[in-house]
Amino acid sequence: MRTITSITEMQQWSSIQKKNGCRIGLVPTMGYLHEGHLSLVRQARQDCDLVVVSVFVNPIQFGVGEDFEEYPRDLSRDCQLLDQERADVVFAPLAKDMYPAGYNSFVEVYGEITEKMCGASRPGHFRGVTTVVSKLFHICQPDLAYFGQKDAQQLLVVKKMVEELNFPLKIIGVPIVREADGLALSSRNVYLNEQQRQEALVLSRSLQAAQQLIKDGERDVEKVRVHIKDIIETSPQAQIDYIEINRASDLASLERIEGKVLIALAVKFGTTRLIDNLLVEV
Ligand code: PAF
Repeated sequence: MRTITSITEMQQWSSIQKKNGCRIGLVPTMGYLHEGHLSLVRQARQDCDLVVVSVFVNPIQFGVGEDFEEYPRDLSRDCQLLDQERADVVFAPLAKDMYPAGYNSFVEVYGEITEKMCGASRPGHFRGVTTVVSKLFHICQPDLAYFGQKDAQQLLVVKKMVEELNFPLKIIGVPIVREADGLALSSRNVYLNEQQRQEALVLSRSLQAAQQLIKDGERDVEKVRVHIKDIIETSPQAQIDYIEINRASDLASLERIEGKVLIALAVKFGTTRLIDNLLVEV
């Protein structure tokens, strides 16, 4: 496995591989890899001739007062894990090369899809994501790029950008990976103390309960929302950021549950903000 930090070198490597007819899969990450990331890498390994994993903690997708400085980083451990997964290249650019002094170009998807949920609580976050993802696509030139369903809104926003800006690649969404007790894997789980880790189970539990309520025939979005809220509020430390139930294809608001819906949560435990979601089809 090769580690590349230079943008030019990465771009040249990809150009050569593409000329040779190789299919490149890209897994964009911010590092501190867990089984969720590795499931993306395994999917890419199955689908593609060559697998590139980018590791870059993207400063412009963090808001003021968010955890950019504290975000966990361990590139040598990431490289070991990726070597075991038979990735071909780890692309780990430097922030000063990605965003040199005077940098002033951004990519933004407008509308409801970026304005609600994480877009409302983290202004500028998706602009940061779509900008860095566009740069990574131009540099790594993937045929396929892999994103986790855990960040459901990010997946939708990136898909929309790729479609509307005619990027010549396909976005693949990969299911959420959970701990045995239901907690969705996240690099931010390391911030939780024991008590918070235990209480964080209300996320997956409330989503399961919502799914059951819908299975039992409930179609009123507000009633399902309140049911989720009641379960989350059994955790003394949970501070709800949002509980949203929207149309899964474009996050349009709904009053009744019909078709494919995305139930998405963001909840803080202490200073740690966790997200989780579930797709339900009726
Ligand atoms: O999901 C993430 O880890 C990041 O948002 C991404 C897609 C790597 C962009 O920085």
